[in-house]
Amino acid sequence: MIYFSRGKNMKRILIVDDVEINRELLCNMLSDEYAVDMAADGEEALAMLEEERSETAAILLDLHMPKMDGFAVIRALKQKGWLNRIPVLIISSEHATQIENRCLEMGVSDFIHKPFEASIVRNRVHNVTELFACKNQLEQKVEEQEAALEKQHRIIEMQAEKLRESEPFNRLMMEYRAAIMEVETRLKVLNEEFSRMYNRNPFESIKSRLKTPESIYEKMARKGRQVTMENIREYLTDVAGLRVICSFPDDIYRLADLLIRQDDFILLREKDYIRNPKRNGYRSLHLILNIPIFLSHEKKYVKAEVQFRTIAMDFWASLEHKLKYKKDVANTEEIEGQLKACADSIEVLDYQMQDIRDKIDQSQDMDGADEAGGSGNI
Ligand code: GTP
Ligand code: MG
Repeated sequence: MIYFSRGKNMKRILIVDDVEINRELLCNMLSDEYAVDMAADGEEALAMLEEERSETAAILLDLHMPKMDGFAVIRALKQKGWLNRIPVLIISSEHATQIENRCLEMGVSDFIHKPFEASIVRNRVHNVTELFACKNQLEQKVEEQEAALEKQHRIIEMQAEKLRESEPFNRLMMEYRAAIMEVETRLKVLNEEFSRMYNRNPFESIKSRLKTPESIYEKMARKGRQVTMENIREYLTDVAGLRVICSFPDDIYRLADLLIRQDDFILLREKDYIRNPKRNGYRSLHLILNIPIFLSHEKKYVKAEVQFRTIAMDFWASLEHKLKYKKDVANTEEIEGQLKACADSIEVLDYQMQDIRDKIDQSQDMDGADEAGGSGNI
């Protein structure tokens, strides 16, 4: 039942106490600022909240009451998930730390002790309701944003499905696949040559992937472009993506240089995150290349992104990628710090390993020279 309701835009509060004089006292103190509802026990309070809870900005709750006491009300509010939205202030003559702690652990927001002091009551109720109003507004915004994202996600899925069935799109993807094959072949040829001439392989493995229609839609939306075949060609550089995993940092630069120097490959952009690592510690060399592909009736240029990194950098990047795309990871800041420290260690290790390789190579060269000199003497 509403006892006082002055203005339409007043926040509502609910006072729950079995002693009428207490209810009246609190009501008198708060009715200037709030529309006040009152209940004489827990059951009545819960029944009122079933009707009015979306409007209720705070509950002032007595602990000792007949039928259903304050603790039982808190438990019920918690179980229904209402305690997150409506702050509870305990009105009590209890000063025992143990009881206060128990209430706080159950999720109540504050205490108002008897005898009531008007200014304290007003300030506490004001502070708690303001705080929860902000919290609830923020949570509502997050919920709205999540709903909007979910909707956007569903739209992207539908559009991506249409794209999968479109002939021009599948033709375009064929061209990107051809570009991947072209780059892979050039790299494999260099690997063959290196292993014959220097008895070593400049890279360990190549991974490749075509961007999915969903990812194409997402990126085009971020760029504020419509998804047309022309726009994909013009504005996306990573539909064809290759990742070249090398053993040592100097192999990366040697291989990248050899690829750029292929006279029909055109370097459009280079991003050197090895010499200039990202703040999170990410290190890789990225080349955006224009690759010629030879079709039955024409030669065409298609863009491809080639990322070069060492085995250790690749291991790091896949772990870091997991963190980025995993929701609700606890201790994110701590993990980010640990990842950055790992990236720094990896940099040191990569160059130490390269140093060891150089020393092994040098001693092998000297062994070769000794053997040559020895046989010459015979
Ligand atoms: P994207 O929109 O992600 O393609 O970024 P971009 O176009 O600004 O280019 P950038 O060179 O920064 O990134 C290209 C690609 O490199 C990404 O799609 C990832 O595959 C990889 N990459 C870049 N930064 C990071 C990073 O911090 N961590 C990891 N794991 N991968 C990264
Ligand atoms: Mg990309």
